[in-house]
Amino acid sequence: MTTTVTWLGHATLLIETEGYRLVMDPFFTGNPVCPISADAVQADFLLISHGHGDHLGDTIAIAQRTGAKVIANYEIAEWLGKQGVSNVHGMQHGGGFNFPFGRLKFTLAFHGSALPDGSYGGNPAGFLLTTKGGKKIYNAADTGLFGDMKLLGEEDLDLALLPIGDNYTMGPDDALRAVKFLTPKVVIPIHYNTWPPIAQDAAAWAKRVETETSARVVVLQPGEKFTL
Ligand code: NI
Ligand code: MN
Repeated sequence: MTTTVTWLGHATLLIETEGYRLVMDPFFTGNPVCPISADAVQADFLLISHGHGDHLGDTIAIAQRTGAKVIANYEIAEWLGKQGVSNVHGMQHGGGFNFPFGRLKFTLAFHGSALPDGSYGGNPAGFLLTTKGGKKIYNAADTGLFGDMKLLGEEDLDLALLPIGDNYTMGPDDALRAVKFLTPKVVIPIHYNTWPPIAQDAAAWAKRVETETSARVVVLQPGEKFTL
């Protein structure tokens, strides 16, 4: 079965696999480049990388309207429970779980994770998703470069979703180094061109990556989809 990844601008992604709709970091309201509004989103699972508003986004409203299960770190899962979202699944770094859509593992990320009300949001994470069809997708989420990406490079990744925006996350230079550590077949850049501080030339970055590595870079426009 095919798996598709739709970039909805910033770090918001829709992954469709095995008939399930997974929305990673569902930031719709206030996302200036997102082509759809939060009340039009259909989802079976919401995956939250960390507590910042541009990732937690519309989690509460979408979870309450659709009944989607929210997967987040333990602290965010507990916090969501207090906000009236009961269908949650808490995880932590290094832990994996077999969900109906495939296996999801929480990976390291170097960043913050405070929740919008100032509550402690645990540690930020990335996601390693192994689909039922055996495709491996790594979403680094918000992070700087770190050496353990070399360990993820042993996973034979089909796709890596990497931030290139700089300022809050890796910029283009470190994201290129990340590609060398991760050795994915395909890379899609995310977390850029949302606001002026993270403006980047993705086409120029793609050229550099394809010159210096064997990865193929797919630059999507918000709303565009890539099929694995
Ligand atoms: Ni963040
Ligand atoms: Mn962010």
